[in-house]
Amino acid sequence: MQIDVVTLFPEWFDWFRSQRHIANAAAQGHELRTLNPRENTPLSGGQVDDTPFGGGAGMVLRVDVMDHALRSFYGVDPVDLRRERRVIALTPGGRLLDEGLVNELAAEPAVTILCGRYEGFDERIVQHFCSDAVSIGRYVLAGGELAAMVLCDTVLRKQPGALGHADSAAEESFSDALGGDPEYPHYTRPSEYRGWKVPDVLLSGHHEEIRRWRRARSRERGAASEGSSLS
Ligand SMILES: C[S@@+](CC[C@H](N)C(=O)[O-])C[C@H]1O[C@@H](n2cnc3c(N)ncnc32)[C@H](O)[C@@H]1O
Repeated sequence: MQIDVVTLFPEWFDWFRSQRHIANAAAQGHELRTLNPRENTPLSGGQVDDTPFGGGAGMVLRVDVMDHALRSFYGVDPVDLRRERRVIALTPGGRLLDEGLVNELAAEPAVTILCGRYEGFDERIVQHFCSDAVSIGRYVLAGGELAAMVLCDTVLRKQPGALGHADSAAEESFSDALGGDPEYPHYTRPSEYRGWKVPDVLLSGHHEEIRRWRRARSRERGAASEGSSLS
């Protein structure tokens, strides 16, 4: 798949691209490109934002700047771009990113992600250029770059060949293999440490019992996860 990230800070993604699973995905032909609206803004002095109509603090990313950036990059009117590929505005109040949305996006051939900064986007960017508004959680980051990395990470690791072991993604938290429940607990050597013992069943060698035990722990975690982070 091809993911394009529209960001005023493309250099943030240099480190991200060098991470093993992202590099693996790239080696399999998946692309992660960046586009900086400041580089070809039609306004003078590299201007990309402006003060909000109606007053208030902060700066708002301008719709004409985003129009120009997307049009120059893709060679089409951005109003039509969202019919060709998912165009996602990252925003704290958007649709919450979860496993369902990740699977949806991972199946797309091409996605464009718009990172806001400052106060965010002129709303006309979201209304007229975007197919989706996505949030990675109900809190506010300083900008969309980390949210874009979260989205790219979770979508690209789903691509065949991104992870060292294909099995790692098959049976993990929220997967169909676990009925959408969180993953069961893992243990490794030593089998006892400071009196804390690994459950006997995991040392038993009985694969069917281990499978049943894991499924049960996974279900318990699913039931408990409504109100607790440690179960
Ligand atoms: C400081 S935030 C703007 C917050 C906005 N004024 C508000 O109150 O909703 C700047 C940018 O960071 C990104 N951002 C911040 N928190 C985010 C979140 N939880 N999920 C996705 N993007 C987020 C968005 O792109 C946003 O436009």
